[in-house]
Amino acid sequence: MEYTKGADFEPKHVDRKLLYTSLEERIKYLHQFLDFNSSDIEALMTGTKYIKQLIPAVVNLVYKKILQFDITSRAFHTRTTVDETEPEEDYLNEESPKITRRKMFLRWYLTRLCQDPTTMDFWRYLNKVGMMHSGQVRMSPLNVEYIHIGACLGYIQDIWIEAMMSHPHLSLRRKIALVRAVNKVLWIQNDLFARYHSSDGEEFTDQMSDFDYNVGQEGYLGDKRVLGGSTRDDDAESIAPSINSTAPSVDSAAQSTIGASSMRSVCPFAEMGKSNSTETKIWAN
Ligand code: HEM
Repeated sequence: MEYTKGADFEPKHVDRKLLYTSLEERIKYLHQFLDFNSSDIEALMTGTKYIKQLIPAVVNLVYKKILQFDITSRAFHTRTTVDETEPEEDYLNEESPKITRRKMFLRWYLTRLCQDPTTMDFWRYLNKVGMMHSGQVRMSPLNVEYIHIGACLGYIQDIWIEAMMSHPHLSLRRKIALVRAVNKVLWIQNDLFARYHSSDGEEFTDQMSDFDYNVGQEGYLGDKRVLGGSTRDDDAESIAPSINSTAPSVDSAAQSTIGASSMRSVCPFAEMGKSNSTETKIWAN
């Protein structure tokens, strides 16, 4: 097929190697491709309240689903979906203490999704969650095969779309903005799961310094404790760190990344979303 190119047309360069060796570059590319922009950040920041309201229901539905199938339920006995040996003990149910604790982790994860996406820490956390399910962590590896991860993310996305679109008070405009923004985050999370289950870029394996995570001990992702408390029986509500109850405005969020303190890493692409938001206007005519 023949097509004309404007004289000044210059596609953006993407360095393939950097996609595999630099988490920042990978995220930057995904942001650009998905048009993750200031409208999405604003939607996430101002919609925190609605996202948080849904978290308990999402967590319960996801665990109900995972425990519905032996292959996924077994992962909570054996930490793998590869081994089909029946567990010696009974299959877990939603009320099992082990599952109650797992629910807390998922709640904390979803709570993190409501936090500031203009910081690199936000994306690092998603990356570590992806990495830790891949069986590549040396200390007590967890190997959940991609088919289950993809299905689970799709399920979360479905619950999310249904819940948001049927919200009784939100305007349609805000519903759409929130659905789109969360969808983009979920797809980036999907990539950060998928990349550890794929051989793409394997020639750069020994140069992945930026993808260096020591995900190991439960409740820790990297060297950062994401869950407080000291014993397995800690109460979920009391140990999950509190998050900002008031969402900062987009402007203040963006500004806070400029010259942010060393306590919080600056996301190099926090400012990139200044462009106009993209709307398909697919039904305009
Ligand atoms: C697709 C979305 C998923 C997300 C966002 C997610 C998130 C998480 C998080 C945040 C943790 C805890 C990390 C920590 O210890 O600090 C975790 C642990 C775990 N996840 Fe997932 N997960 C997902 C899918 C699945 C699926 C489909 C399975 C099972 C087939 C699964 C099985 C497990 C197991 C067994 C653990 C470890 C539990 C333990 O330490 O005893 N996950 N997950």
